[in-house]
Amino acid sequence: MLDIIATLQAEAETFQTLSAEELEKFRIKFLGKKGELTRLFDDFKAVPNDQKKVIGQKLNVLKQLATAKYDELKNTLDSSKHTIQLLDLSAPAESYAAGSRHPVNIVMNDIIKIFNRLGFTISDGPEIEDDWHVFSALNFPPEHPARDMQDTFFISKTPDVLLRTHTSSVQVRTMENQQPPIRTISPGRVFRNEAISLRSHCMFHQIEGLYIDKNVSFADLKQTLLYFAKEYFGADTKIRLRPSFFPFTEPSAEMDISCSFCKGNGCAMCKYSGWIEILGCGMVHPNVLEASGIDSKVYTGYAFGIGIERMALRKFGITDIRMLFENDVRMLNQFSKFL
Ligand code: DAH
Repeated sequence: MLDIIATLQAEAETFQTLSAEELEKFRIKFLGKKGELTRLFDDFKAVPNDQKKVIGQKLNVLKQLATAKYDELKNTLDSSKHTIQLLDLSAPAESYAAGSRHPVNIVMNDIIKIFNRLGFTISDGPEIEDDWHVFSALNFPPEHPARDMQDTFFISKTPDVLLRTHTSSVQVRTMENQQPPIRTISPGRVFRNEAISLRSHCMFHQIEGLYIDKNVSFADLKQTLLYFAKEYFGADTKIRLRPSFFPFTEPSAEMDISCSFCKGNGCAMCKYSGWIEILGCGMVHPNVLEASGIDSKVYTGYAFGIGIERMALRKFGITDIRMLFENDVRMLNQFSKFL
């Protein structure tokens, strides 16, 4: 019996195969119900007691060896099957899951499309800016609170490097590089040193609008914004301009639209006022034109700045601004239909 065990042991040790059939034959021969091991364990019952210990140990070693060999070869076979599948060049390609557009991008693109139809070009400027383009050229006095460390992320004081707090900086860059007529919008990211909460974030998006030419009037601004509001929010939308203040426009205004949820009757969305604030705007201050090399006696213009996040939150019924930037795919996947 020891001879048989030794022969089988040698066979199991040297056995190698890449074929599932051969491996199955090995399993049946060694580990099957009617296999060698079953037979040997049956025979073992008849072994004299004084030999039981030695033969029993050898039998167990053989069983472990055959089982381990089978498991090992089965594993190799399974994983090589997988490799072969991956390398099957005739197999149909696995479908590729495309991402979805981000809600902020969806709103930005929709707004851009409307202004493109009105002949506005798109201009771009750097997110890392200097004091001149973000504040000084926009007529901010030196002591203006927006320059405070609490409001603005300064990268260095000398030379002055900071993160732009609004896209109005692109107005300045455009006017420095181009003579009127200028009709452009500047979408982009802006940064403010604010505590992150349900309603505010330290990074968000704006679209800046600028129109400079001879005889541009406040009526042109109003008509353009009315057109935008009707295109974006629906034909029955009304607008309201409230006097406001920005250093870079004079006169300045804030524009509200009639609440699309309650049609102006008052609801939680519009805090029961019937109106929702959408953007800031005004006639470009002569100082701003002059600072950028445009003759304010010849040219006038209007500007406006739209905050994107607030519009995205409202459009999609999102209640927490932080959800826009957590990149949780469970949230982002829901926008795939807007591709
Ligand atoms: N820059 C302003 C802000 O960040 C928005 C703004 C208001 C832009 C009036 C303009 C404007 O161009 O005319 O709050």
